[in-house]
Amino acid sequence: MLQLIIIYIIIFVVVVYSVYRVIKTITDKKQASACDDCSGCALKAECQSQVCPVEKAGLLDNPLRRWLQQPRKILAPYIHSGMNVLDFGCGPGVFTLEIARLLNGSGQVIAADVQKGMLDQVSAKLKKYHFESVVKTHLCKTTQLNLNLSIDFILAFYVIHEVPDQNSLFESFKSVLKKEGLILIVEPNFHVSQLAFDAMVEKLQKAGFKIVDTPHIRFSRAVLLKHKIEA
Ligand SMILES: C[S@@+](CC[C@H](N)C(=O)[O-])C[C@H]1O[C@@H](n2cnc3c(N)ncnc32)[C@H](O)[C@@H]1O
Repeated sequence: MLQLIIIYIIIFVVVVYSVYRVIKTITDKKQASACDDCSGCALKAECQSQVCPVEKAGLLDNPLRRWLQQPRKILAPYIHSGMNVLDFGCGPGVFTLEIARLLNGSGQVIAADVQKGMLDQVSAKLKKYHFESVVKTHLCKTTQLNLNLSIDFILAFYVIHEVPDQNSLFESFKSVLKKEGLILIVEPNFHVSQLAFDAMVEKLQKAGFKIVDTPHIRFSRAVLLKHKIEA
């Protein structure tokens, strides 16, 4: 009997979520806004067509996704007290908050995004959960990070496929990542083909990174990398 109830609950949640997604897709007609000021930006058209709009932040930050993907379980093997962590393309901050918790009072998170609207949502959460001193928000203007920090761990979750110039971005990653640092790149398998993912990994290898692991993350393709030449 209990099993039957659980199955009914799961079916109900899946149906409600699917209906929500369909309604959202139909009603969300607003065009994505990539940066605050796009005037004169050479990447404007390309960028705006790819970036996940702020209006869809609810699809990223909801209890169902947190339950299915378990951000803490994904991040716990890599995040330790005292680290400097970059959450690149942080969106509404699902992973940012979990990194802040895992730092356990020592270390820093840079929550970087190209959309101010996403960073505003992160800031509101930081205030709510009292993480303002642990997390700094950083507005990216281009694929250049413009960060003057040495980073221990870079997370790029569901963002790389939105970046028009991946080669420049990977060079930026290389310049901020410590010699012994790690990068975890995760892409949605329902949106990024194995072929496209492999091509991206090849760019990373050409940029000077080597594969350490390919962790299993639900609904995703993932790769963990470090500098080719170690410290
Ligand atoms: C699909 S969302 C994923 C958000 C978050 N990582 C997550 O998994 O919940 C992609 C995010 O990357 C950001 N983004 C896209 N291109 C970017 C770039 N070049 N630099 C920084 N952020 C970028 C978007 O604004 C968006 O918030």
